[in-house]
Amino acid sequence: MFERLTRQPDDPLLALIGIFKADPRADKVDLGVGVYRDEAGHSPIFRAVKAAERLIWESQDSKAYVAPEGDQAFLDLLWAMVGGKSSPVYAAGVQTPGGSGALRLAADLIRQAGTGKIWLGLPSWPNHAGIFAAVGLQIETYPYFDVPSQTLQLDSMLAALQRAAPGDAVLLHASCHNPTGAPLSTDDWARITAVIAARGLVPLIDSAYQGFGAGLEGDVAGLRALIAAVPEALVAVSCSKSFGLYRERTGALYAVAAAKAAAETARSNLVAIARTSYSMPPDHGSAIVKTILGTPALYEDWSNELDSMRERLASLRRSFAAALGDRWSNSLAIGKQEGMFSLLPLTPAEVMSLRDKHGVYMPTSGRINVAGLKLSDVTRVAGLFRSI
Ligand code: LMR
Repeated sequence: MFERLTRQPDDPLLALIGIFKADPRADKVDLGVGVYRDEAGHSPIFRAVKAAERLIWESQDSKAYVAPEGDQAFLDLLWAMVGGKSSPVYAAGVQTPGGSGALRLAADLIRQAGTGKIWLGLPSWPNHAGIFAAVGLQIETYPYFDVPSQTLQLDSMLAALQRAAPGDAVLLHASCHNPTGAPLSTDDWARITAVIAARGLVPLIDSAYQGFGAGLEGDVAGLRALIAAVPEALVAVSCSKSFGLYRERTGALYAVAAAKAAAETARSNLVAIARTSYSMPPDHGSAIVKTILGTPALYEDWSNELDSMRERLASLRRSFAAALGDRWSNSLAIGKQEGMFSLLPLTPAEVMSLRDKHGVYMPTSGRINVAGLKLSDVTRVAGLFRSI
């Protein structure tokens, strides 16, 4: 059987982890995979995560199964953070192995409901298309961002969505757009919401960076307005970045509806799909998140540390954009984008040249993880970008 298989290429983004590690140059720079890094280039464990793990170690007295949908207390606390404490909608959640697990469950549900199509922005996180194609969904695209001019293409996006059929699914990023970092204003969200509601489209909102752009509330304001204005939505949440729990694979998918019965029917389908896929989600990461969100002192410490990460990213962006100067026609836009990523107008050959000559690593798309810069190194690294 194995002989009939063809060898698959490595995931180009994840492969960068190993390629970077193998480079012996001391001054190499990792702008690859989206993991937060501090000024020392280290990806730290939040203080509150360590404290929560200690509490869990001391108090947990069983490793028996929790429940098919995961830990309901975790799901409730996480929804209060994402959807708000007084959300007008009903959200039925299932805990998932990371945000990618949530997206895959959403894809399966969309397919199971008989919807054939999902609309993705151009560009989007490369794995989005892979996940939806894997379940046989047809992928349509809407323009989102023009790389050379570093500008949002909102009018073209809305015109494309006007052509979507009622019931089609539409993927949106809640904040900190991956790969462009291009923020949506309140007015942009209102215009997107109006088209989605008028066309009867079903939004699937990917929320993976809450706290890294406009803060814990600001990063979900558009999401909250949208889900309040449509009869049904899906919200995929990742705890990888916001809680620094990357390897713990912690996330959730919420079926959101104005009516409780509809949301609970969707949840029963999600639980059934999960049962034949991975049975039940891992618990450790969700126990950490539940402990932090449910313990005021830990919550405060966690949100303060998250704020400091957000501020570091914003200040790195400003310095990097200033140091790039007139390298591209709109380099300064990079300073105003949000979250970890920006998508630079580089050719694959330029990306490879930066890698080979200078040890600066990023995917060939030209996406950079701003967190991989160091304030002490911004001038030097920007100089390398200017020299290419
Ligand atoms: C990224 O985009 O770098 C992260 O979301 C990591 C991943 O899984 O691709």
